[in-house]
Amino acid sequence: MPVRKIVTYGQSVLEKMADPVREIDGEIIELARDMVLTMHAAPGIGLAAPQVNVSKRVITVDLSVGENPDDLIILVNPELLETDGEEVSEEGCLSVPGIHENVKRPARVRIKGLDLKGKEKVIDATGQLARVFCHEVDHINGRLFIEKLSPLKKALVKKKLKKERPTGGRE
Ligand code: NI
Repeated sequence: MPVRKIVTYGQSVLEKMADPVREIDGEIIELARDMVLTMHAAPGIGLAAPQVNVSKRVITVDLSVGENPDDLIILVNPELLETDGEEVSEEGCLSVPGIHENVKRPARVRIKGLDLKGKEKVIDATGQLARVFCHEVDHINGRLFIEKLSPLKKALVKKKLKKERPTGGRE
């Protein structure tokens, strides 16, 4: 099952600090490959492993959603090295369907991580790419974008999400 099920708001894996990857073995390579397929199928521009119910520090990003192979970025154990500036733009999340809100993020970031060959990569990003990196790194730290909203907005969004899934989701 290469395209995996995306877990949604209310499931505990989304609120957990994900574990670092100790070795890029077959399991991690398969996970990353499935994440890319899942992200493209959704369709989405970014995905973090907890969103497919795997609490590991792996993210995939592709602003072209599969149109341009050069745009695909897979990072293992990603880490934001520097952030700079501020930018407010609308954001959504495959794990929080139906909610789109303005979120303040750094305008520029420098991120490092390993590719699937274990080689360290450092990427400088601005605008939407910087935003997606911040969003996905938040995911592996157990944080959803709705946590960044004002208390009032957050309360409204949570009320809406609760109404839509009164059971709070299934494990
Ligand atoms: Ni997300």
